[in-house]
Amino acid sequence: MSNFTNIEPSYLSKEGCRLIWKEVNEDEQHVVLLNKEEFEQLIEFLKNNNSGTVKLEDNFSEILINSDVTQFRLKDRDQLEVDTSELRTQVLDYAKVPHEPLYVQVPSKEFYPSISVHKDETTKSKEKTLLDVILSTKETVSESDLFRVMSTRRSTRKFIKTKVEDWKIEKILAAADTAPSAGNFQGLEVFYIKDKNAKEALIEAANNQPYVNAPLVLVFCMNPKRVKIKFPPQMLEKFSLQDATIAAVHSQLASSALGLSSIWIGMIDEEKVKKILGTDLRPSSILCIGYAAAKKPPKPRRNLKDLIHVLEN
Ligand SMILES: Cc1cc2nc3c(=O)[nH]c(=O)nc-3n(C[C@H](O)[C@H](O)[C@H](O)COP(=O)(O)O)c2cc1C
Repeated sequence: MSNFTNIEPSYLSKEGCRLIWKEVNEDEQHVVLLNKEEFEQLIEFLKNNNSGTVKLEDNFSEILINSDVTQFRLKDRDQLEVDTSELRTQVLDYAKVPHEPLYVQVPSKEFYPSISVHKDETTKSKEKTLLDVILSTKETVSESDLFRVMSTRRSTRKFIKTKVEDWKIEKILAAADTAPSAGNFQGLEVFYIKDKNAKEALIEAANNQPYVNAPLVLVFCMNPKRVKIKFPPQMLEKFSLQDATIAAVHSQLASSALGLSSIWIGMIDEEKVKKILGTDLRPSSILCIGYAAAKKPPKPRRNLKDLIHVLEN
């Protein structure tokens, strides 16, 4: 399999370029040469987010630009492909054409955990929910004492590529569901970002913080409409911000208890994140989780006497 990697100047003319694909396991590379006119046509399609075809000068080869994938159908050679969003970024950067990143919109789907509640379990206890089942699964890690987890947790901005196991993801999500919330109305929603392009777009929406592209990415959003209490809208907004924040803290601590590490991202452009998620809900934070590249000692905190203010008579 070959992956599109980069664009380089053409050897033949100053204005054309070479698009390069590399094989995953070998040094072999595939090159598509574009002349000035072909490259300009490609730029035009990508700049305007249009689909279309660029015919190449051999009168056979062509570039088919679609919203998701761009295919290079080539004479006497295998077809090459690249994600259009990736090609767009590289081509427009290379040509120094100012551009805004494209907002990927992936419709959200229902979450189906790998664990299902067996019939006999539900009859044994009518109260048994999926949450109970997930949290009581035997799989766990040893260092789960809450105070140990709290005192050893550290933010991580460098994750190794190892995937987070599904059972751990389920526990992290279930942990969010154990959080207290105003009136127990659970004024929050969690977006579990599996889509690679959405993760890339979130990096940009988070002030280009690259570690947002972590193995597990959760976006915690506020949903004040769920909070059915007769209070002014500002209060419901505040409750839902608190609900979303506490749920994220539960997930963050659960991650640490499961031997993972995380980084809390508060520096986000809310409007951009909303577009990426395809929602009107305000995001409060992004929690990026994975296995830390290095273990770090806890950061110092201020003296307890400066933090705690005692009022007594
Ligand atoms: C509300 C909030 C917003 C944060 N936003 C960011 C952020 O946008 N980018 C980042 O790298 N870290 C962010 N952090 C992580 C903090 O920098 C980190 O928790 C702090 O330095 C303490 O380090 P520790 O988590 O290792 O104890 C945020 C943390 C919180 C609680």
